[in-house]
Amino acid sequence: MSAEPAAAGLSAQQTENFQRDGYLILEGFLTPEYNERLIAEVDELMADRANGGKPLLTSYREMGLLTSHPPMMAMIESLMGPRFAMHHIHSVRHDAGHSGVAWHQDYEQEPHTNRSHVMVHVFYYLNGLNGEIGDLLVLPGSQTIVVERSLSLFGTEDLPGSVCVDRLPPGSAVIVHSAVWHARRPKPGGEERGRYFIDISYCQHGVLWPAYGTVKEVNQEALRQGFDRGGRYRHVYDSSRFFDRRPLKQRFDRNNEGSLLLRLKDR
Ligand SMILES: [Fe+2]
Repeated sequence: MSAEPAAAGLSAQQTENFQRDGYLILEGFLTPEYNERLIAEVDELMADRANGGKPLLTSYREMGLLTSHPPMMAMIESLMGPRFAMHHIHSVRHDAGHSGVAWHQDYEQEPHTNRSHVMVHVFYYLNGLNGEIGDLLVLPGSQTIVVERSLSLFGTEDLPGSVCVDRLPPGSAVIVHSAVWHARRPKPGGEERGRYFIDISYCQHGVLWPAYGTVKEVNQEALRQGFDRGGRYRHVYDSSRFFDRRPLKQRFDRNNEGSLLLRLKDR
């Protein structure tokens, strides 16, 4: 795992496009061989879940290796600089009849007041998109608008200027600024062909990010399995970059009234 050639990262044009639009489509990003291994592993995961298991995704080799996939790490470095940490990995197979997800954004902050540091979600569409089961909707440029997470009043309708991504070849990846508004529009069809989806999120160093209960376990398992590739990507699994939002959130909600700016008065 150590003698991999240095990956190139994003071109200046791609970086500029990402900064303007808040997303970047990488068609056929994964090699067919790796992609096939990932698809087989997502099937294995779905079977494990059907049997009542709740396994850590970093206990699966191929998905675990994807969290530090060197070509993607180089691209994330183009957007964030050399230091960032994984927020989560989610994997699932969406089968026919999937209900979709209404408009929302996924930037982690409590409360939402700025976008000072970069957080991204990388959406991997292992068997592409073909207009069945669910399309990706994205609103270019919306990553600069500071809003709370849910925009569910818009459902999965088109918004002015929104883009519908419904055709992607297998192994494609979409790097999405986590604050960009996006949705999954439910579509008929796909009875013969589930939609394989992996979502991995990374947060730029420099601030602490809200996270949930499993970061430590996920990272410990990743390091145990050597997914940091000899230490080259150890920072990706640094749990100290996150804080548990839940206890603070309750206290904050009790005190959240009027203009927070006034709290600086007389300091
Ligand atoms: Fe999302």
